[in-house]
Amino acid sequence: MARRRVMSGMRPTGRLHIGHLVGVLRGWVALTADNDAFFEVADLHALTTAYDRSDTIGASIHEMVIDWLAAGVDPERATLYVQSHIPQIAEMHLLLSMIVPLAWLQRVPTFKDQIAALGGEVATYGFLGYPLMQLVDIAAMRGEFVPVGRDQLAHLEVAREIVRRVNHLYGAGTLVEPQPILGEFPGVPGTDGRKMSKSYGNDIQIADDAQVTTKKIRSMVTDPLKVRRNDPGRPEVCPVFELHHLTNAARVPSIEEQCRTGALGCVDCKTDLAQSFDLAFGPIRARRAEIDPASVAGVLADGAERARAIASGELRALKTRMSL
Ligand code: TRP
Repeated sequence: MARRRVMSGMRPTGRLHIGHLVGVLRGWVALTADNDAFFEVADLHALTTAYDRSDTIGASIHEMVIDWLAAGVDPERATLYVQSHIPQIAEMHLLLSMIVPLAWLQRVPTFKDQIAALGGEVATYGFLGYPLMQLVDIAAMRGEFVPVGRDQLAHLEVAREIVRRVNHLYGAGTLVEPQPILGEFPGVPGTDGRKMSKSYGNDIQIADDAQVTTKKIRSMVTDPLKVRRNDPGRPEVCPVFELHHLTNAARVPSIEEQCRTGALGCVDCKTDLAQSFDLAFGPIRARRAEIDPASVAGVLADGAERARAIASGELRALKTRMSL
């Protein structure tokens, strides 16, 4: 199969958790094997909401990129770069902002959600352009395929609409309509049973060592009706059981059976999970600990150089089509 151009990005949120690892980063690593892959730290996207604490973004970039590297995203095979290091993205965003109808951006669900969350307070000009900037990220690398979670499908949909409008105005093939590649993982439960998320404080981080991980697993909620060790449990409502699928798949049927009959207590079940986490994630933690923090800047400088070369070609082509 021909190599495809794959592009994706993540807002810098600091240390990532195992939900990111199994849901996103493993997919990135797999795609890197036989595609040309571009992975971007979307710091300008972070700025759309964190403009009042922009001084925190640098540290978040650093920690996140170390997690990417620890997870096996290989900077020799994929181009890793920071969005704001590629000025062509900003210029392309300005040019395309001229042709995107306001209504297309206003009806994007993430925009409507933010307006609702702010109680009608006016969101910023930059935030309105969030999905356009995402398209520009993809277009600047001429990305064809975009691995994303379900929550990003609406953004990809507007992106494709914008591309069709650009191609209608300035000629077929000016931009490529990007296709989403949907991740398999629907999300991983956190220690309290809700979706694992840093903002809920229920996450187990890639950087957490064995002790911290075990402690977090011990604190997890389980079936509230399984009070005593020998009470029969309901694996279908238990987040510990759900996590066993990640690292202990072969033993899931026996755990399920033993939980239902009451033969397996929650404490032992959690100990078992913590051990399987150690086996699965220990090597990644070890790799993380060995990464020289000073090397991150070099990785990102190399990536930016490669990304800028591509972006400037794409920008030049767009300006030519726009008669600029
Ligand atoms: N909006 C994406 C998110 O919140 C991050 C992102 C920025 C992205 N630019 C992108 C994803 C380009 C895919 C392609 O997860």
